[in-house]
Amino acid sequence: MTDIRSILDKLYDSHELTREEIICLLENRTSEIQSELAEHASKIAREHYGNKVFVRGLIEFTNYCRNDCYYCGIRCSNRNADRYRLTKEEITECASYGYDLGFRTIVLQGGEDAYYKDDMIVDIIKSIKNEHPDVAVTLSIGEKSYESYKAFYDAGADRYLLRHETADFAHYGKLHPANLSPENRQQCLYNLKKIGFQTGAGFMVGSPYQTNENIADDLLFLKKLDPEMIGIGPFIPHQDTQFKDMKAGGLDLTLYLLSIIRLMLPTVLLPATTALGTINPRGRELGILAGANVVMPNLSPVGVRKKYALYDNKICTGEEAAECMNCLKNRIGSIGYEIVTDRGDNIKFKRAL
Ligand code: 5AD
Ligand code: FES
Repeated sequence: MTDIRSILDKLYDSHELTREEIICLLENRTSEIQSELAEHASKIAREHYGNKVFVRGLIEFTNYCRNDCYYCGIRCSNRNADRYRLTKEEITECASYGYDLGFRTIVLQGGEDAYYKDDMIVDIIKSIKNEHPDVAVTLSIGEKSYESYKAFYDAGADRYLLRHETADFAHYGKLHPANLSPENRQQCLYNLKKIGFQTGAGFMVGSPYQTNENIADDLLFLKKLDPEMIGIGPFIPHQDTQFKDMKAGGLDLTLYLLSIIRLMLPTVLLPATTALGTINPRGRELGILAGANVVMPNLSPVGVRKKYALYDNKICTGEEAAECMNCLKNRIGSIGYEIVTDRGDNIKFKRAL
């Protein structure tokens, strides 16, 4: 019987775990171990970032997508999705509104929508950076060529989010149609890093068919990739997908993994995601207490929010951005942390000049 105590101590000292050790932690999860991990993880987050929580304003600018991921509500085959696209003007107005609210990171997220050619994305990035040079622009628009990523970077984009979804190729095949390849997805992540983006990877917790072995491989993949950001949140079924009757990912497992990730990659920027806030009313606060240090409220115009439904019952689809900002300030304040007006770069990261 492997000794949990020695695994935990090793994690605190070396920030390393083997596959077997991760599986052992997952198989033997108890509330005692979970609290201990959360305490260590939040302590190490505070050592690096104090009691600051960074905010990212998320602009969901298109829900058109050419892909057909089995879990996702905006998959191309969902005929019930009410599709929309924001214009450049709507996007830049949203960004400026966010700026006035104190956001210093704007995340442009969308489905893989060929309507937005590279030069349009470049133009949008340049407009935002021109108007607000102290804002970090993050893109989350899927798999593109090396050349496209390079053009976005050269236009001034700072960061890129692209979850690897699952590091196990067989599991990847159970979540995606055959035209999507995990090799290409991982190659995209290495390309983004090589170009100089602060790069984010991640996966869903409790996605259909996920095993503890899969999770162990996800954590080892993240350790190897060494991204600046990691996004994890519970899988939540969407009514118009083939996974509609599958179980959602669990709160406690998500919190447990947030803590382990914080301990394995101590300086990583780690959001308490909207999905976590959706499965539990205090999910995001608990995420911060488990070691997360970022929240990503929605900046999209209220009129389109309900339409960007990756999963059912998403929170904050009726609130204005200013309301969410206030709400989050209160929530984060209530647990002794503070939302700050700051780009919130990874402290290890220096952009090449
Ligand atoms: N539940 C939770 N997360 C989801 N995502 C997509 N669909 C769902 C769902 N049903 C996540 C994916 C994607 C990110 C933008 O949202 O991991 O990378
Ligand atoms: Fe949107 Fe609380 S964060 S209402």
